Parts: sequence; C-alpha cells; structure tokens
Amino acid sequence: MSKTPINQGGRHGRFRVGRRELLLAGLAMAATVTFPHINSKTAAAQATVSDRRKLGSLDVSALGLGCMSMVGIYNLPQPKQEMIALIRAAVERGVTFFDTAEVYGPFTSEEIVGEALAPFKGKVVIASKFGFGYQDGRVSGRNSRPENIRRAVEGSLKRLKVDTIDLYYLHRVDPAVPIEDVAGTVKELIQAGKIKHFGLSEAAPKTIRRAHAVQPVTALQSEYSLIERVVENEILSTCEELGIGFVPWGPVARGFLTDRFDENSRFDSSDRRSSVPLFTPEGLKANKPLLELVREWARRKGASPAQFSLAWLLAQKPWIVPIPGTTNPQHLAENLGAVAVELTPNDLMEIRAAVTKIEVQGTRLPESALSDH
Ligand SMILES: NC(=O)c1ccc[n+]([C@@H]2O[C@H](COP(=O)([O-])OP(=O)(O)OC[C@H]3O[C@@H](n4cnc5c(N)ncnc54)[C@H](OP(=O)(O)O)[C@@H]3O)[C@@H](O)[C@H]2O)c1
Repeated sequence: MSKTPINQGGRHGRFRVGRRELLLAGLAMAATVTFPHINSKTAAAQATVSDRRKLGSLDVSALGLGCMSMVGIYNLPQPKQEMIALIRAAVERGVTFFDTAEVYGPFTSEEIVGEALAPFKGKVVIASKFGFGYQDGRVSGRNSRPENIRRAVEGSLKRLKVDTIDLYYLHRVDPAVPIEDVAGTVKELIQAGKIKHFGLSEAAPKTIRRAHAVQPVTALQSEYSLIERVVENEILSTCEELGIGFVPWGPVARGFLTDRFDENSRFDSSDRRSSVPLFTPEGLKANKPLLELVREWARRKGASPAQFSLAWLLAQKPWIVPIPGTTNPQHLAENLGAVAVELTPNDLMEIRAAVTKIEVQGTRLPESALSDH
C-alpha cells in the first residue's frame, strides 16, 4: 500500500494512508451489507484517518463521532460495553473528537463516553453540552441560569471522568436568560479551569455575536447537511467572520442521506424520526430527487451515499467538522472513508447548481436560522 506524506499543520492536513485506500477501507467495512462488489479486508484493516482540522484554536480530527443515539433517540439504547468498544474503535481509527451532552439519556451518554475515553485522557477532545433543567431525573425544560450551569458542569466533569471539559456548548438558547450572563458564567468556569472552550448550539447570528463579545466562542454546532442547509443563511458567514468553527449535527440527515429509507419506511414513536417531517411517507417520497442526486454523485465518486454526503460538508469550509452519529462499527468505518472522497471546485459548483434546483420538503424555513430555536 502506497503512503502519502503526513502533514497535520495545515487546515487541510494529509492522510497516513492514500485517500483512495481509505475510501476503499471504509467501503469494505460496509461491503457485506450495502456494497457486495467491494471486498477488501486488507484495506478495511487500515481504515485510519489522521486528517486534522481547527475549530477556532481547537485541533480535532476532520470527522468526529456523535454519541447521542448510543442511548436511544433513533434506536433502543445500545449495550454499554458495545458502545464503549465502538468509541474505542473510533479512537483507534484516528478520531479525536467525541460529542455528547448532559441531556442525552439524560446523563448516560456522558457516562459511556467518560468510561470509553478514560484511557485516552489528553489525547482526545470531548465536547459536551449544558442548558437544560431536570426534575426527578427527567428534563424539565431549558435552563441557562448561572446556578444551573455551575451544577451541570460538576456533573459532566464527574461522568466524563475529566478535570476539564475541552468544549462545552450551550445546547439551546434560553430566552429567559441573557446570553451575556451565560457567556459570563462560562468565562468564570474557564478561568476556574473547569472548561477549556465555549460553544453554542442552534444559536442565531445576533446571539452568537453577543456571546462572543463576552467570551470568545470556539465552535457553533447546528444542523447542516445536503438536505438541511438553513445555516447557509447568515450562520456560516457569521462563524467565518468571527473565526468560529462549525460542527454540523445531523450530517447524514439522521440516516436519510445514507439511502437506507424509502417511502415505505415507518418509524415507531420511540424513534425521534417519527416526529420529523422529512421521515413521513410524504417527506420521504417528496425528497427522492435529492436522494437520487446523492446516489448519482456517490456512484461517480466511487463512494457510498453517506461518504459523499459527508465529503460535501467537509468541502464547504476547512473549519467544518461533521460529527456523524452511529451505533454500528461498520457505519463508523464507512463514514470515516468520507475524508478520502475528493470533490473538485467544478464538482462543487455542479452539485450546488443541482441541489438548488431541487425543491426539498420537511426542512426548516429560511428565517429559522435567524432566530434562536
Ligand atoms: N446540538 C444539537 O442540538 C444536536 C442535535 C442532534 C444531534 N446532535 C449530535 O450530532 C450527532 C449526529 O447527529 P444525529 O445522530 O442526529 O444525525 P446523523 O449523524 O445525521 O444520523 C445518525 C443516524 O444515521 C445512521 N447512520 C450513520 N451513518 C450511517 C451509515 N454509514 N449508513 C447507514 N446509516 C448510518 C445512524 O444509524 P446507525 O446507528 O445504525 O449507524 C443514525 O440512525 C449526534 O450523535 C449528537 O452527538 C446534536
């Protein structure tokens, strides 16, 4: 297997193995189910990525791992030891960026992440989120009051088994608390050494600016994918102007862009997708043209639909770091293969022109990016 030079200094970095080999490696892991024509055990064994990106001043792998659905959301909660093994497999494959939140479970996702990553202290970046209150162990609503942030950070530190949280996001803006009070509280926690970097999630441009003026924001995490592009409405330009990194959640649109569903797919009430308009039979049918485009480009690039969709996000800006969520080691390896998919400026223009012509249904309204939700 040929080697390419390692260069972690630049925003675009390089890979320890050749791009094509990495792509094949990811595909080979997924081959048994989705791509029976691709079968390279050797390549699969070497599916590691050393590509690095910067979120503000924070250095992370070009793709992170979302750890939300490990405790339910789209599926039943998964066996803890299997999820620990999955997270450790991601570390072995070069992933250094792990995403969780107090509210996932609640609390149990942080516990899994903390236990899984305990042997890798200082070598990985853990991001968590605060901003909800709880009563009798259940979420009682948004709560960004300073005392609730101070309570939350102590619990997250314990569950994550760390002395300081690398990146701590406000999960949802609380209309009852001025953002300056939130940023000021986080600033104190940074000074106390309990947090390293401040993040926001699903915040509007004005809120981002006000928060950033009090405590510089390292990263914004909001939904972004080929089908859900509402953050292109002022959010990304605000991040670019302020030097804030961007972390797309839902980068494969909760599985839609992986081409695993069609209009006959049904989601029971325990699956979050049952309440998402995109996943109604009508939504799945109406958005077939976009999926067809994804399939076609994936074919052209010798990639899977998930890999192409992640590669498209990576190609938008060098300070974008998607965090696909998975509970499946084969999907993990497949997704990492996305960094090997090359999209040229011409490809990107062609894709942009094509997606803009497709009318999507069940996505957010353009104004929704401009207010906190
Ligand atoms: N800040 C926020 O408000 C917010 C909101 C939601 C999520 N998040 C974070 O963002 C992360 C990712 O978002 P998300 O989980 O909502 O959406 P996502 O990453 O777009 O999609 C996850 C879903 O896609 C499936 N999937 C992933 N890769 C696949 C592949 N290669 N082939 C087939 N299916 C695949 C997963 O199923 P399998 O388990 O079967 O792979 C899972 O059901 C979460 O884990 C969480 O950490 C943040």
